[in-house]
Amino acid sequence: MLSSENNDLLTLIEPGSIMGNLLRHFWMPALLEEELLEPDGAPVRLRLMGEDLVAFKDTEGKIGILDAYCAHRRANLYFGRNEECGLRCIYHGWKYDVTGQCVDMPSEPDESRFANKIQIKSYPTVLRGGVIWVYMGPSEHTPEPPNFEWSTLPATQRYATKRLQQCNWAQAVEGGIDSSHISFLHRRSDKQPTTEVKVPRNKLHSQDRHPVFFIEETDFGLSIGARRNADVKNYYWRITQFLLPFYTMIPPVGDFEHSGDQPYNGHAWVPIDNNNTWTWSFGAHPHKNYEKSTYEFLSGKNGMWGPITAEYLPVQNMDNDYRINRQVQKTENFTGIEGIPNQDAAVQESMGRIVDRSKEHLGSSDTAVIAFRKLLLKLVKEFEEGKSPSAAYNGECYKVRSASLLLERDIDWQRGAVHLISCDGL
Ligand code: FES
Ligand SMILES: [Fe+2]
Repeated sequence: MLSSENNDLLTLIEPGSIMGNLLRHFWMPALLEEELLEPDGAPVRLRLMGEDLVAFKDTEGKIGILDAYCAHRRANLYFGRNEECGLRCIYHGWKYDVTGQCVDMPSEPDESRFANKIQIKSYPTVLRGGVIWVYMGPSEHTPEPPNFEWSTLPATQRYATKRLQQCNWAQAVEGGIDSSHISFLHRRSDKQPTTEVKVPRNKLHSQDRHPVFFIEETDFGLSIGARRNADVKNYYWRITQFLLPFYTMIPPVGDFEHSGDQPYNGHAWVPIDNNNTWTWSFGAHPHKNYEKSTYEFLSGKNGMWGPITAEYLPVQNMDNDYRINRQVQKTENFTGIEGIPNQDAAVQESMGRIVDRSKEHLGSSDTAVIAFRKLLLKLVKEFEEGKSPSAAYNGECYKVRSASLLLERDIDWQRGAVHLISCDGL
């Protein structure tokens, strides 16, 4: 549990908040490349960190993310005309370039130099890995973006997608690092035909529902080892990486005969405001192209992270109780809800927009959740004392993978998995 004061400190990120100021030191995924393909195309509405923004791609292909509200009388620039290297407000025609500088003010006399003095807030952007990233922090310290392996691979070897989640970012992160819930929330019924021969993980998750957690603080955040009994000789390890401030890399699925050649997936939980989050999913096949059907399954709106609408809104959502089916809950899976992301969203959103952590009762399976809170609260306290988060300035430390593997019982989990975790090996 957390005190109400620490709960606020951990969760609140809107302008003026301490955690918000800390998070702003990190580059964040803002939009998918597919949302802003056309130069001079339609601007995109965007809300991040409690700020209303507008994004556009100008005539030369430069991407601007600006304050949504025109400096004149606050009309929303989403309705603006994207033309000749700038976004023109449709109310009185003021026009802004990608840096937020007002470059034309047709409502004022020709000799007026008023436009030179007008600049609206703009944030630096970069396109990487099919994602438009934004930096909303202090401009005097703009760091390099995080050097995730997936963000540097060819498009045929990586994917990214996103969906809306209607709760605070921190409880979504906590769902992502809580490796013990997979034995329950995502369980298929024992009565279902089994695929254990090919994918023994489901069996391993079911036969040992009390993983023992081991946590290491790292440059990038936390390395979380969840250990389950496999057989008399081996443990089954799932190594989840938590990367500051809101990323996870989840252990690969597939068979156990592996090298570092397994595809992997991960998430980012990017705050829209205190009560809403973009749940990003990304992944990569480090050494080969995805099969076409796999790629469509991972990145498509009706695939693994769907179904979602054209606006990236989940079709199963709190308004329709995630289409829970009580018969399916009795006979087919643990929840009666179809789709792993929908199962995750249902429980995380069911807690309320910001869970009241002062009312919880945490157990040994919550070790990773506790470590996440401790780390973030430590960083926020250090930040108040003037120390910036070092991971924000160390893009290289993001070059790691997650892993899942069988290890003989006497082998140290980090040493035993090093060939899978390093992006420089296989
Ligand atoms: S409100 Fe935008 S030009 Fe007047
Ligand atoms: Fe989950």
